[in-house]
Amino acid sequence: MIDYLEHKTVFESEAVDYLFGNKDSGIFVDGTVGHGGHTYELAKRLKDGFIIAIDRDAEVLEVAKRRCGKNINKIKFINDNFKDLPFILSKFDIAKVDGLLLDLGVSTYQLLNSERGFSFVHNGPLDMRMDKSQEIDARYLVNTLAEDELAKIFREYGEERKAIQIAREIVSERKKKIINTTEDLVNIILRVKPIFRKQRIHPATKVFMALRIAVNGELSGLEKFLTGFIKNNLKCGGRIVVITFHSLEDRIVKKSFNLLAGKCVCRMPVELCKCPKEKILNILKPFPLKPKKEDVLKNRRMRSAKLRGGEKLC
Ligand SMILES: C[S@@+](CC[C@H](N)C(=O)[O-])C[C@H]1O[C@@H](n2cnc3c(N)ncnc32)[C@H](O)[C@@H]1O
Repeated sequence: MIDYLEHKTVFESEAVDYLFGNKDSGIFVDGTVGHGGHTYELAKRLKDGFIIAIDRDAEVLEVAKRRCGKNINKIKFINDNFKDLPFILSKFDIAKVDGLLLDLGVSTYQLLNSERGFSFVHNGPLDMRMDKSQEIDARYLVNTLAEDELAKIFREYGEERKAIQIAREIVSERKKKIINTTEDLVNIILRVKPIFRKQRIHPATKVFMALRIAVNGELSGLEKFLTGFIKNNLKCGGRIVVITFHSLEDRIVKKSFNLLAGKCVCRMPVELCKCPKEKILNILKPFPLKPKKEDVLKNRRMRSAKLRGGEKLC
């Protein structure tokens, strides 16, 4: 059985330090509980109050419950999308919270579990849904989207240089037979991008990441959510901490924080700037926290991680 021990939490104590600041009590939200690494650390340090721990993947949430063990009475586990947080809070009759942590992306449980279809290493159905009740999966996208739509996904979300060629190969292959498994897709990609010795990343990495982002709509509505949360659901003096693994995701977080910190993001001369800026957030550090070399050696997943944090002004 794949369990929480397989997952190395990224910025485990740093994220909690950033989130708590000087506080050790209150209502905190972990919007991406995953294996519960951060939730566990939060619960351990929380003196008074509780944690709302959300994941849209019901299976992963069970792993987190096992991990949080004896601190479980401080945690309310919710199987939902963090983008529905205002609605979730209203169910608890809560208007504002002391902090929100988001550790975006995919968990090790999802990657290692071949039946979930996230990984190009383990063969499985081409699925990639975090929320298994969702209708659209990777198999549907790969077998139905037009060639240019597939290429756009691979280029924009995966920064894949061979996006057009891979999309063309997929469309030609699916005329012969339905692309059903992760192995089917890997074999098509390898025809366009063969494996060379000493390659740093597998040729299918970027296409798989791009498809996962598309299937789960990971970027859509993120800016609107962050802005709405900070304005409406974060207490004065409360904090938001976001960990990203993807440059587009990080750009969205940076832009949302900068606008709420009263900064221009359009690079136009001051008199022409029409950025919808407000001064309600203090950005905790001018540059994002990045992993140390030794951390990356211990945990490869950390190599592209960035942590950004902000505190709501009163
Ligand atoms: C990188 S993992 C989190 C790992 C966690 N911090 C830990 O230490 O174990 C990301 C998790 O967020 C979940 N997730 C991603 N997008 C989500 C969303 N919009 N709403 C709720 N959960 C989401 C995924 O299902 C996954 O389990």
